[in-house]
Amino acid sequence: MNNQPIGIFDSGVGGLSVFAELIKLMGEENYIYFGDTKNLPYGNKSKEELIKISKNIFDFFETKNVKAVVMACNTTSANTYNELKNQYNYKIYPIVQTVSKEIALANYDRIGVFATQATINSHAYKREIRNYNLRSEVFEIACPNWADIAEKRLQNEPESIEDIKSKLNMMLEYNPDKIILGCTHYPYLIGILSHFAPLELFINPAKIFAQNIYQDLKQSELLGGKKEYEPKFYVSSNAQQFKMSSKLFYDVENAQEIEISKLTVK
Ligand code: DGL
Repeated sequence: MNNQPIGIFDSGVGGLSVFAELIKLMGEENYIYFGDTKNLPYGNKSKEELIKISKNIFDFFETKNVKAVVMACNTTSANTYNELKNQYNYKIYPIVQTVSKEIALANYDRIGVFATQATINSHAYKREIRNYNLRSEVFEIACPNWADIAEKRLQNEPESIEDIKSKLNMMLEYNPDKIILGCTHYPYLIGILSHFAPLELFINPAKIFAQNIYQDLKQSELLGGKKEYEPKFYVSSNAQQFKMSSKLFYDVENAQEIEISKLTVK
């Protein structure tokens, strides 16, 4: 048994979709969630900025003596995991690399990916999926406004609906078998997306990801046996907005604002 905490981070509330799945499987773990709301959105940042941001967060978790860090954020997984994965003593779980393997093995011919601009620029989903299954064709479309729409719960505004519809129509032209919601914020938009396309078309990677983490911790004999405290939530700004937006996946009652580094990227 290992009761050290598990760290989990995202640019905001999106990673709560992963967190909600993790606690279903591993309720006895001690969790520390960090939402980097001050640096949101990550999707329009450069690789260099994202590496700096991720490094700060990994250093923060190091001070918390975690046994593992869950990169619930697609954008940082796609752009910084390879650079940072060997620099820390705890386990690191990246969402893109982990779920791509599982999805590739499901053998779909045509896979669509909606993600942030920085994730699409990295082509990480395409590369990772085709690494395991060269038969799959992967179609990537960036949705630069969607994280903000979800974070601010603007999905019912006419402009948001237009934006969502137009990206979805572009994707449907490719006739995909499945569409990966490749940003943790996007499952917040599933209600509106499923107005215009069948719900079964969309893959929310959170479930697959959480299963994988659970299996790996189990195999590594790192599962915790005793919850010592309720999950702790930290944000880098605007705790009130975070609590409001959290409700769809996990109702956060208390989030503490902290400054984890002076290196905040503007
Ligand atoms: N939710 C994050 C992701 O999974 C990034 C959203 C953003 O901050 O742009 O990619």
